[in-house]
Amino acid sequence: AYTAEPFVPEGAGLAGLRKAAAECRGCPLHRDATQTVFGTGDTDARVFLVGEQPGDQEDRQGQPFVGPAGRVLDRALAEAGIDPTQTYVTNAVKHFKWTQPPGGGKRRIHKAPSLREMTACGPWLAAELALVEPEIIVVLGATAGKALLGSSFRVTKQRGMLLEEEIHGRHARVVATIHPSAVLRADDREAVYQGLVSDLKVAARALG
Ligand code: URA
Ligand code: SF4
Repeated sequence: AYTAEPFVPEGAGLAGLRKAAAECRGCPLHRDATQTVFGTGDTDARVFLVGEQPGDQEDRQGQPFVGPAGRVLDRALAEAGIDPTQTYVTNAVKHFKWTQPPGGGKRRIHKAPSLREMTACGPWLAAELALVEPEIIVVLGATAGKALLGSSFRVTKQRGMLLEEEIHGRHARVVATIHPSAVLRADDREAVYQGLVSDLKVAARALG
């Protein structure tokens, strides 16, 4: 089976994990991506945010949520009363999965990671969670939800409430919401954005 497990160093800090993840060959996704995009932020953070996988900009820059979806996320976090600089941000899958646009355009098209790829990448997420030990995990979108909470996860049903879950062997308080890129795709952007903010406020309130 595909797995990152043999690449994950024991007892490493964030810098050591990031360095090792740059060499991960745990699944085929490293082949077509520019680089590993590891998590980043405050390792003492109370809030741990998990997206799906790096996008086009993230793949080029090597940092999670630095593209358009990241700008939506930062604005929504601030509006919900969560300081973006006091969070840790990562993705369920650390390499960008993409496909050539039909007709040979330049912009690479995002492809959702498979369950096998998400499972393969899980040991990195487990190591990040063990390092940060957050009070709240915010799951961004259906793919991250399935990766962390299992394939029966439905964002429409489980968003915006405080869930008590077992994630990578540890008890976790989780709030799920939509993926911030859903705001960018929506016709009624403002309403979808307000939904994101209101879910993030649930996480903010749970911090007390
Ligand atoms: N979308 C994600 O899920 N993660 C990123 O890092 C960027 C966009
Ligand atoms: Fe390793 Fe995850 Fe990249 Fe696959 S997606 S090669 S498991 S870091």
